[in-house]
Amino acid sequence: MYLDEYPFLPSKNKRDEGAFLDYIPTEYSTNGIGDYRESCLDVETLNGFTATQLSYVSYKTVKGKKKIDNLPTSFGNPEDVDSLIITCEDKYNRLKVDLIYSVFKDVDVITRSVEVENIGENPIFLTKVYSACLDMENKDFEVISLHGSWARERHVECTKLSHLQYVVQSTRGESSHQDHPFLALKTSKTSEDCGEVYAMNFVYSGNFCATAALNQFDFVRMTMGINSKDFKWKLNAGEVFATPEAVLVYSSEGLGKMTTTFHDFYRKHLIRSPYLHKERPILINNWEATYFDFDSDKLIDIAREAKNLGIEMLVMDDGWFGNRFDDNRSLGDWKVNENKIKGGLKSLVDKVNEMGLKFGIWFEPEMISPDSDLYREHPDWAIGITGMDNTRSRNQYVLDLSRPEVVQYTYEQVAAICRSANIDYVKWDMNRQLTNLGSSYLSADQMGELSHRYMLGVYKLQDMLISEFPGLLIENCSGGGARFDPGMLYYSPQIWCSDDTDAIERLAIMEGTALIYPLSTIGAHVSTVPNHAVGRVTPMKTRGDVALFGTFGYELDVTKLSDEDKKCVVAQVELYHKYNELIREGDYYRISSYRENGEYECFGVVSKDKKEAIYIYLQVFRKPNMHSKRIPLRGLNPDYKYFVEDTEQELPGDVLMNVGINQPILDSDFSSRLIALKCI
Ligand code: GLA
Repeated sequence: MYLDEYPFLPSKNKRDEGAFLDYIPTEYSTNGIGDYRESCLDVETLNGFTATQLSYVSYKTVKGKKKIDNLPTSFGNPEDVDSLIITCEDKYNRLKVDLIYSVFKDVDVITRSVEVENIGENPIFLTKVYSACLDMENKDFEVISLHGSWARERHVECTKLSHLQYVVQSTRGESSHQDHPFLALKTSKTSEDCGEVYAMNFVYSGNFCATAALNQFDFVRMTMGINSKDFKWKLNAGEVFATPEAVLVYSSEGLGKMTTTFHDFYRKHLIRSPYLHKERPILINNWEATYFDFDSDKLIDIAREAKNLGIEMLVMDDGWFGNRFDDNRSLGDWKVNENKIKGGLKSLVDKVNEMGLKFGIWFEPEMISPDSDLYREHPDWAIGITGMDNTRSRNQYVLDLSRPEVVQYTYEQVAAICRSANIDYVKWDMNRQLTNLGSSYLSADQMGELSHRYMLGVYKLQDMLISEFPGLLIENCSGGGARFDPGMLYYSPQIWCSDDTDAIERLAIMEGTALIYPLSTIGAHVSTVPNHAVGRVTPMKTRGDVALFGTFGYELDVTKLSDEDKKCVVAQVELYHKYNELIREGDYYRISSYRENGEYECFGVVSKDKKEAIYIYLQVFRKPNMHSKRIPLRGLNPDYKYFVEDTEQELPGDVLMNVGINQPILDSDFSSRLIALKCI
């Protein structure tokens, strides 16, 4: 592509190609041979050398797509997926490298992963193995990424691509609250409906690194893979290392098309749960209602009232086991505390079932409290470095899941509880990041494998749980939304999106999350006011309208609700049953973001056949002395005529999309309107 244009050098005029690898678009870049951009494959040999040189050997195409061992992998029938495997070899380091690509008939996506095999006699250390690399010319690109913190995850950020390297990464052992395994390049002119976007998302829940930069010749390189920080994998002769896969989406029809493609892909080719296309039971979770201060009587009271209001499942959150009266203790001691849960778990679950509610339970299986029987018995089961003070976070340590016996033991604890009563749902939590990376199980030359082996342990645990309890609804969670990623979606059809349940903060969190993930995956609950995370007071109707666009549930003490709020809950439950299928299965459209306009939020969902739609308009801050506005909707069929349910108007699709729907000023800030349309 650029080879006829060598950089001009006055003294020589022409230089050896090898000296200009920086100039050549490369499918999978390697370290130390003259390409000084971000490399994808770095090694360390027994002699201490770090350069890697790949050359092309062969390719083959196959029908279907191989499952990556021990890792979440997208899937599809052989007739719907084709895979290309390009085999390369590093003759010096004796490595065979397969670059694996899959394309799908029904969704415009390319997945990429890499397998590295040691075909030599000596071990070699892999110090970086990325999954994808994309070199291209600059099209005045901007970088979109998702940034956040606890209680404000995945806010959309956009910045101009420059010669400074843009790095989005996690080194925390989880995909994290702070940064997200997603990166997109869009042209400066790309809008919701027009223009180009190149996006990558990583099917992995641990340390990742995504980069984008312009180099000295203004060429773009974009990469994605496991973070190389603290990563060093010993590959013995004959062994293979397989990377997680990256999902690549290109859209020439704006950001909207990118979003639809990701949503369709994850619903069709990644999420396996039998609940994917089912209406999930409306749950009530006791966390924000009681925190640790509950017993079975209190739970029964909540369940009774919840049942009266139409709620369908009680979820017992943190605090039911061991000596867990606060977050200082007992993680690892997964035995029911019968002082709190009188008569034991089965008795409570049976009573709740008799009332006509399902029952769900919270676990944090990957953790161990220093104050726990488990830690007293097995201090070496915690990740840590002997002799160094282990950093406590939320007063807890992390179990060493690189160790097979710890995985097995942990599984047995969770499974024993699930076997002991009629459990329909598990909330699988993970409330701290990894530190003090030391394992008393791994040898010194394998210590750099800990973070990845930890993730493999987590995936194994969830795989075992699904295999033994195929009907279980799992909701992953991590201190709110620190592990909301495609890796987790392979195991659970929904993920708790954030500990921030405030309806206004949720607008930004949902915008960023729904940029990639279907609404059917986004855990969203109605909670009390003032909101526990931000202290904001919003109307009950607004809280319900916002949560409706996620998996929908409640997280408050229903026994304390006013009669007016109870009536509101009954109405919300009805709306959920009416619109859940549309919201779960339809196409999501962003209309206008409060982040950008400073005034209101509007987004919606249109059914695939375009016969039904529902949008939410939320007035965040009223601008003084403003009149009603018209909001052009998206996603409708211009030739259909729609009935607008609340105003009882009949309006053509092209009018609704081009002129817009009339939106009066609402009485107060934080008020919302649901705009439901039906084709007539
Ligand atoms: C995390 C979760 C919450 C709750 C608590 C319990 O913070 O995100 O929803 O389950 O843990 O300790």
